[in-house]
Amino acid sequence: MMRRVTTIAELRDQLRRWRQADQHIALVPTMGNLHAGHYALVDAAVASADQVVVSVFVNPTQFGPKEDFARYPRTLDADAEGLQQHGCGLMFCPDVATMYPAAALGQASVNVQVPGLSEILCGQSRPGHFDGVTTVVTKLLNLVQPDLALFGQKDYQQWLLIRQLVSDLHLPVALQRVATVRAASGLALSSRNQYLSAAERETAAEIFRTLETMRAAVASGRPSALVEMAAAERLQAIGFQVDYVAIRSADRLQVLPETASEPLIGLIAARLGATRLIDNLLF
Ligand code: PAJ
Repeated sequence: MMRRVTTIAELRDQLRRWRQADQHIALVPTMGNLHAGHYALVDAAVASADQVVVSVFVNPTQFGPKEDFARYPRTLDADAEGLQQHGCGLMFCPDVATMYPAAALGQASVNVQVPGLSEILCGQSRPGHFDGVTTVVTKLLNLVQPDLALFGQKDYQQWLLIRQLVSDLHLPVALQRVATVRAASGLALSSRNQYLSAAERETAAEIFRTLETMRAAVASGRPSALVEMAAAERLQAIGFQVDYVAIRSADRLQVLPETASEPLIGLIAARLGATRLIDNLLF
């Protein structure tokens, strides 16, 4: 049976028992409203570790003042049922005061920042977002001290930030990246997809098709800058407000000269109405 806990004391109590039995522990951090994308991470965790902890915490510090923190879907009971079915052993659902004790006392919180990577692309359109992500992920890794932590490729910039955070702070945890789970249309699964109307959902699938078109164009030798421009224009023409269309180095998200031979990734962030969607494809 899965245990569902909210306090750090209960979390540590279960972890202590598992460690005493020499069990390897994996952590899957989430904000809940779980879908097949999240469950792919849980399945991979179950395959690699003896015990799986899934945290469900809608982290206020990674939402901007005008973003959807208040209306972000919270479905704890359904999440618990799904997690139990997928073999999760411990669901950790802390409240905000538990995760941010300094702030709860009216004090300034410690903030973990990854300079360079956190300000570009999504960091540019969502100032402070990644500081909230790296801060909460550091807290979760410190609380659980897992052997392994798993993250999705869907949030590729987040993945790179966490990789650098773990390396630069010498956190003793292995990381695993799990491929993006998509709907049949190609649309990357996301909790925010449910904000979309049926018509918008069809349009949203064009993000992935555009990434595939970009990959083919780059493979045929077209300059990245032209490919980016054509893709952005196409998305705008079918109703998106484009945040960015970018072709970057896969390891650091840098702009590369056309002659570089490093692996590339295509990344798109665009809005349909009020809903912001992101996706990426390794070239
Ligand atoms: P959340 O959006 O709930 O995503 C939790 C994890 O699931 C992330 O690692 C994300 O990349 C992965 N994921 C989401 N959709 C996916 C899909 N379609 N295919 C594969 N993986 C997918 O990302 C966050 O929460 C937060 O920023 C968090 C890391 C929990 C920190 O608050």
